[in-house]
Amino acid sequence: MVHKRFQSKFSLVLLSSASALSFFIFLVACDFRLVRPPSEKPEIKNGSILGNNPASGQRPWEHSLEMLSRGKEIFSMYCVSCHGKGGRGDGPGGAGIVPPPRDLVAGRWRKGGTSKELFVTISEGIEGTSMGSYGHLDKIDRWALVQFVRSITERKSDDSLSDLEDFVTKPYK
Ligand code: HEC
Repeated sequence: MVHKRFQSKFSLVLLSSASALSFFIFLVACDFRLVRPPSEKPEIKNGSILGNNPASGQRPWEHSLEMLSRGKEIFSMYCVSCHGKGGRGDGPGGAGIVPPPRDLVAGRWRKGGTSKELFVTISEGIEGTSMGSYGHLDKIDRWALVQFVRSITERKSDDSLSDLEDFVTKPYK
């Protein structure tokens, strides 16, 4: 009898320490972002940014925290290797590349620093350099990258609003 009671107490202790351990592992996993779901892709209302109607409130260039964090995430996947974590052009994959990856913070643009120009550069790349084309990324993700680059650069140029609105209503790859 005593023996049995001891046994069940023992298994209770075992069980609770096992669940405490798995909870601990869960917390560690969270910290290492194993468990964290990927961020949701921001939604663009009323169709794509092509053939859309800017008057409907669809303005992917307009600063939003959602787009910015998406942009940061994509930047760390595709761009950090050359441009570096802080965009300073000092990524490990960029060492020795000629011309070197641009310091996006200093932003001495060859192709321009308006939202539209950055979108085109990201979509088409820069010929003759290792800046490739990222036209295969969803447009919303390219706009998210534009927002991120503009958030870190010291040199952004303003777009003409009508030009931008015109640009997003026309088909573009
Ligand atoms: C393989 C290396 C590499 C990767 C990866 C890379 N870039 Fe570049 N990037 C470059 C180089 C090199 C230049 C400079 C080209 C030049 O001098 O004309 C550049 C230039 C740029 C410019 C400046 C354009 C201008 O007008 O001067 C922007 C903006 C840019 N990259 C954004 C990005 C973004 C966003 C990504 C990720 C989607 C990315 N790059 C990924 C190498 C890279």
